[in-house]
Amino acid sequence: MKFNDKVVYQIYPKSFQDSNGDGLGDLRGVIQRLDYLQSLGVDYLWLTPFFPSPQHDNGYDVADYCAVDPRFGNMTDFDELVKTAGDKGMKIMLDMVLCHTSVDHEWFQKAINGDEHYQRYYILRDGRSPGEPPTNWQCAFGGSAWKWQPQIGKWYLHLHDVSQPDLDWTNPEVRKELANVVKFWRDKGVMGFRFDVINLISKPEIFKDDTAGLGRRLFADGPHVHEYLRELVQNAGIEGMITVGEMASTDLENCIRYSNPNNHELSMSFSFHHLKVDYKNGNKWELMPPDIKALKKIFEEWQVGMQEGNGWNAVFYNNHDQPRIVSRFGDDQKYLKESAKMLAASIHFMRGTPYIYQGEEIGMTNAKYSSIEQYRDVESLNYYKILLNQGKSKNEALKIIGERSRDNSRTPMQWSSEKFAGFSIVDPWLSSPENYKTINVETEENDINSVLNFYKTLVKFRKENKIVQDGDIKFIERENDNVIAYIRTLNGKELIIICNFKGNNTNLTEKTLSDYTKNGYKKILGNYDELAENLRPYEVVIFEN
Ligand code: GLC
Repeated sequence: MKFNDKVVYQIYPKSFQDSNGDGLGDLRGVIQRLDYLQSLGVDYLWLTPFFPSPQHDNGYDVADYCAVDPRFGNMTDFDELVKTAGDKGMKIMLDMVLCHTSVDHEWFQKAINGDEHYQRYYILRDGRSPGEPPTNWQCAFGGSAWKWQPQIGKWYLHLHDVSQPDLDWTNPEVRKELANVVKFWRDKGVMGFRFDVINLISKPEIFKDDTAGLGRRLFADGPHVHEYLRELVQNAGIEGMITVGEMASTDLENCIRYSNPNNHELSMSFSFHHLKVDYKNGNKWELMPPDIKALKKIFEEWQVGMQEGNGWNAVFYNNHDQPRIVSRFGDDQKYLKESAKMLAASIHFMRGTPYIYQGEEIGMTNAKYSSIEQYRDVESLNYYKILLNQGKSKNEALKIIGERSRDNSRTPMQWSSEKFAGFSIVDPWLSSPENYKTINVETEENDINSVLNFYKTLVKFRKENKIVQDGDIKFIERENDNVIAYIRTLNGKELIIICNFKGNNTNLTEKTLSDYTKNGYKKILGNYDELAENLRPYEVVIFEN
């Protein structure tokens, strides 16, 4: 199955639409907004977890895989969502968090209460000496990846929050249980799956210290991951469905294997290298402006590499873990519209399946909070403390969190200029930036030049043009520091996408814009009206021959 003409829309239910006035989004809220989603032209709705959970990591700490958390509604609401979305031509994709459970999950509770069967579900080890964890691995949210469990006298591994113990995939019982979870949702009419940090499921055979890092390179893309994925897809009966794996710290070779149809693993993969080009020294918590040349190199490596290896990319900039791209690689003040449109076009014409994260299509920005009390995310709160401990002042730490917090993407969807942005009738669980008064769906629906209408054009264009779905890709302007540009080709036809990633005028280095028009290329889309001599700030031009 190919998903080259499809577009996925990601919904973070907690922040999408509150239907019952408790300040939290819910499934009925999603149902209320289905007409809007249909108007975007998207094919799949990926919902992040709404399963029962203590919410230490906003639902990625699952306490029961096969139920709906009452905060989000109930199973009848879910069934209605699947049915109503289906009637409107959209399919539901769910987020499967199979690398770890919550500490509240029945399996973990049984394990720590001495049930040996369930102890084999988790990764429990002796320390290297009393009080010393088995290895020096660090968890993703700061601190050791091991936690001492006094009831059973062992350490358990948690690659994420301490409330998220990792499951032991070497145990066939675990793999069977998890395949049954996926099957349960498939049988309820779910038509696709996103697998959370799925390339971390196969741990190394020998647990040893990482002498050069935090451990991740020892457990990413582990020894049996491909085999486990094939087995999961087969046992859950989901081959042919859209499946996307979130691949942490992965590489091209593995992603080709995950997504090449001949391997019967997944239909596509998320990789994150392009979202680290503003990490100073590779450190998320050190700021620097994005390195556009590095970004271009990464796009080229992945786009061309996946093409050569017959793999398939999920193309995206935003999700619930990433700051808003317009605040990050664009300019959310002076050139909000221009940069939001350019960034959208820069990936929507690529080879892959585009993902739109809620609010991206209207140019939603970072949260712009002024105090740490406004943040909710476990990672942000942990790192705020870590940064202070490293000697940063409160202001410096707040500035870094302001740029890098995952809460930047989790603020409520901005539906209108009404109080609470039309998301809720009460103060929501996470507050909105003030700019909801101008950046919102209602305003943009009435403006033909809005970011929202540009997104609709992009989605429609992909559906109607085989060249975007199937064309080959080649990068041009490779030495240009300011511009990212590529050509898609199919049966002698060409589509050329030229993006100025800078907030000032810039030139092309290989050909001028007028060289294109003189040679019979026609501008078919852009974010400024007439063509000029140079590319203007954040200009995107799309030519076709
Ligand atoms: C993924 C999710 C993220 C979560 C983590 C642990 O990266 O996208 O939100 O915190 O996995 O489940």
